[in-house]
Amino acid sequence: MAVSDPAVTLAGVRLRNPIVTASGCFGSGPEMARFLDLGRIGAVVCKTVTLEPRAGIMPPRGAETPAGMLNAIGLQNAGVERFRARDLPWLAGRGVPAIASVGGHSVGDYVACAERLDGARGLVAIELNLSCPNLEDRGFMFALSAGGTAQVTQAVRRVVRVPLLCKLSPDVTDLVEIAGAAVRGGADGLSLINTTLGMAIDTRTLRPKLSTGTGGLSGPAIRPIAVRCVWQVHRAFPAVPIVGIGGVETAEDALEMIVAGATAVGVGTASFSNPRAAQDVAEGLERLLSERGIPGPDAVRGRVEVQG
Ligand SMILES: Cc1cc2nc3c(=O)[nH]c(=O)nc-3n(C[C@H](O)[C@H](O)[C@H](O)COP(=O)(O)O)c2cc1C
Repeated sequence: MAVSDPAVTLAGVRLRNPIVTASGCFGSGPEMARFLDLGRIGAVVCKTVTLEPRAGIMPPRGAETPAGMLNAIGLQNAGVERFRARDLPWLAGRGVPAIASVGGHSVGDYVACAERLDGARGLVAIELNLSCPNLEDRGFMFALSAGGTAQVTQAVRRVVRVPLLCKLSPDVTDLVEIAGAAVRGGADGLSLINTTLGMAIDTRTLRPKLSTGTGGLSGPAIRPIAVRCVWQVHRAFPAVPIVGIGGVETAEDALEMIVAGATAVGVGTASFSNPRAAQDVAEGLERLLSERGIPGPDAVRGRVEVQG
């Protein structure tokens, strides 16, 4: 059995394998290092940071659902300065490629936050979490409009040199249009998908299970949505690298994302029940590729054959 080479290049960044952590499900690395070998995954995508520290929203912030979970955390984080001073050097010291996730409520928030991170040691890319409410546009998420997506992307692109990934929402009529706005705005790659909006209600108390009413649905329940989004966007922009995210729990799931068109694959909710999930998927994928005689992820990327 020939041994496969799992390495991939994501937006110019060489990763030892395609498996990365999904933002918000893995802290910034130090929290998880006792559960798994960070050197066995491609990169750590850190929890979204904002310019100022944020406390997040009132509990309850999570609820289990069939084949997934709902969450509404509200971007709780210690702020970009702390992230730059504490978490990035920690990851750099261990040789773990770090992808920072940046959020904000205005274009200026994103720009200021990204500027503070650009050039930091160990930082290989910035992911723009565009699923944040734009307080300059009635609180609508940036990722829900081509205009909002283009504005943030262009503004950040002007001030940073590090590769930029735009993380998009599946909750739109035409994802290809939004993806196009991100690419034209200067994104080097796309992360697909963030959670999809859901709701669960406790019928005894007549209250929603999350304090905010609605929240983001994640886990295996959304995997077919994520695969569809990756496939649609890869077909429209075959040269644009995609991080496929949504319900990945096994090596087979990761391979499905790659065959749909993903260059890298994020593991999120699976880390809550199995903190070693990202490493397990990475090692399983290496085995799976070798067993099937596939030389590496590049050989099968986007190779799904759709009739008609
Ligand atoms: C508890 C929780 C917190 C999350 N926080 C973030 C975040 O801070 N930034 C972000 O871009 N996505 C965040 N996400 C979305 C995930 O990164 C991922 O896109 C989504 O959950 C789908 O992948 P999964 O099904 O593997 O979890 C969060 C998801 C969960 C479940």
